[in-house]
Amino acid sequence: PLVTTKEMFKKAYEGGYAVGAFNVNNMEIIQGIVKAAAETKSPVILQVSAGARKYASPVYLKKLVEAALIEHPELDIALHLDHGEDFEICKACIDDGFTSVMIDGSHLSYEENVALTKQVVEYAHPRGVVVEAELGRLAGVEDAVNVSAEDATYTDPDQAVDFVKRTGCDSLAIAIGTSHGAYKFAADSDPKIDIERLKKISNLIPDFPLVLHGASSVIPEYVAMCNAFGGDLKDAKGCPEPMLREAAQYGVCKINIDSDLRLAMTGVIRKEFAENPSNFDPRKYLGPARDAIYGMVKHKILNVLGSNEK
Ligand code: G3H
Ligand code: 13P
Ligand code: NA
Ligand code: ZN
Repeated sequence: PLVTTKEMFKKAYEGGYAVGAFNVNNMEIIQGIVKAAAETKSPVILQVSAGARKYASPVYLKKLVEAALIEHPELDIALHLDHGEDFEICKACIDDGFTSVMIDGSHLSYEENVALTKQVVEYAHPRGVVVEAELGRLAGVEDAVNVSAEDATYTDPDQAVDFVKRTGCDSLAIAIGTSHGAYKFAADSDPKIDIERLKKISNLIPDFPLVLHGASSVIPEYVAMCNAFGGDLKDAKGCPEPMLREAAQYGVCKINIDSDLRLAMTGVIRKEFAENPSNFDPRKYLGPARDAIYGMVKHKILNVLGSNEK
């Protein structure tokens, strides 16, 4: 059924695993994710960005998710707004039947972030919808905003305590060194995230679900596949999967993955185009792309998130 993340996160917190939140933009992506979740008996969060709503139109995405629920009534699926930038888009998604929304006030001043998050919580909670907020700034590209590495600020643990208390948000996205997109760390660097900071935050806010954005691993196999068939993704580097497993031990209940799906889909389509130049039936490349999404999500559930059989 369509559920909120309340129970999902409670169980994930206690079990030391995380639930995957995968970005959805079209039918093949939704089908691939849901097939993997069903097969592994895993809860799943389907998240929709403002860009996804614009691309597919809200009603198409909503109806595709409804189709997934009809096909898999046994599955716990949360429908979540990713990076809502203002009250209006959160309200629209709540009114549309989303079970969870993110209000991303991380670009605002602290007091403005508190006020905006509180406003969304006050609208969401009476309607049975949960709210994810964000404190601290991730580096990387999200929608049109390009936050440079220098402007990225890690989440302050004491401020996080105050923020959660004052806003009443249900989960909190924190900045500890991950970033959006396929270029998270310098090509010659050893990727690092601030696990000590995560532990501190988690200890100060016990039993509270934390969220990790920018958690794709940028799997070399798919970067290489893109590049082997005409792509140009030089020096792409992601978050090593063992780090994510470790984060799930310290209160991280939701792990956001989009770039890894994009890379898998693009790599496979590039390969299909190169190897079958006479084909012009979209099903012949969108089908394999859907299979690649399925394979990637299954890998994440079994080897990174640990949400199978939950
Ligand atoms: O954090 C952003 C997600 O990867 C969604 O990206 O805004 O281009 O849909 P998008
Ligand atoms: P990636 O770009 O690492 O997949 O992060 C996705 C994300 O955080 C969506 O909100
Ligand atoms: Na989110
Ligand atoms: Zn994000």
